Amino acid sequence: MARRKIIAGNWKMNMTPTQAVELVNTLKPLVVTDEADVVFCVPAIDIIPVAEAVKGSNIEVGAENMYFEESGAYTGEISPAMLVDAGVKYVVLGHSERREYFAETNETVNKKMLKAFEHGITPIMCCGETLEQREQGVTMDFIRQQVKVGFLGVTADQAKTAVIAYEPIWAIGTGKTATTEQAEEVCAGIRQCIKEIYDEATAEAIRIQYGGSVNAGNAAELFAQPDIDGGLVGGASLKPDFGKIVNYK
Ligand code: 13P
Repeated sequence: MARRKIIAGNWKMNMTPTQAVELVNTLKPLVVTDEADVVFCVPAIDIIPVAEAVKGSNIEVGAENMYFEESGAYTGEISPAMLVDAGVKYVVLGHSERREYFAETNETVNKKMLKAFEHGITPIMCCGETLEQREQGVTMDFIRQQVKVGFLGVTADQAKTAVIAYEPIWAIGTGKTATTEQAEEVCAGIRQCIKEIYDEATAEAIRIQYGGSVNAGNAAELFAQPDIDGGLVGGASLKPDFGKIVNYK
């Protein structure tokens, strides 16, 4: 069975609530498609106005992070139940920016993965190597560890619904996209890792995105690869170009 593509924007720390609604209204007619799931992952404060603005459209709302506790004395954090109540269906977990600047680890990502599933939120778990790791030839070892620890305790049925985003750190926001071959090689390696952890059926079902300088010019070739099931798009998701990425064919 063919996997359905999933094309998600990661707005990062951009867009005030007012700007967010304007952007949704601009993009809404451009991202109409029957062929892929379309997700806008937005800053926490934008979730409620964006959820309102996308009503009646094909756009789903995602968060960019989430805490792994239910509630309590965790000043500044956002719980899974809060996200669900606000209409969130997806959550980006373990983005390299969160790992680098906010002390996210494979272990905290794993805790968040388990919580997301518990609350029926689909995780988009990010992984990806630094340029140094690529040059050292340890890309796949590093990513396999991120995936293996990230999925500890996740059942096969849960894993089948998950999304993994392969985002080489050196390709994020740099305009330096991974070559199609590099992206496909790692995405295929991630699928192989899922097969080893679970089984063939889980590996065939899980969706693996590529992220890192995806744009209207390179999306079609990347998304045509057998193991690339769509993209996680940063900069270009804030522009009308995102419509071209969603309708890449
Ligand atoms: P860019 O598309 O801006 O390179 O960002 C990629 C990314 O980090 C998406 O999560």
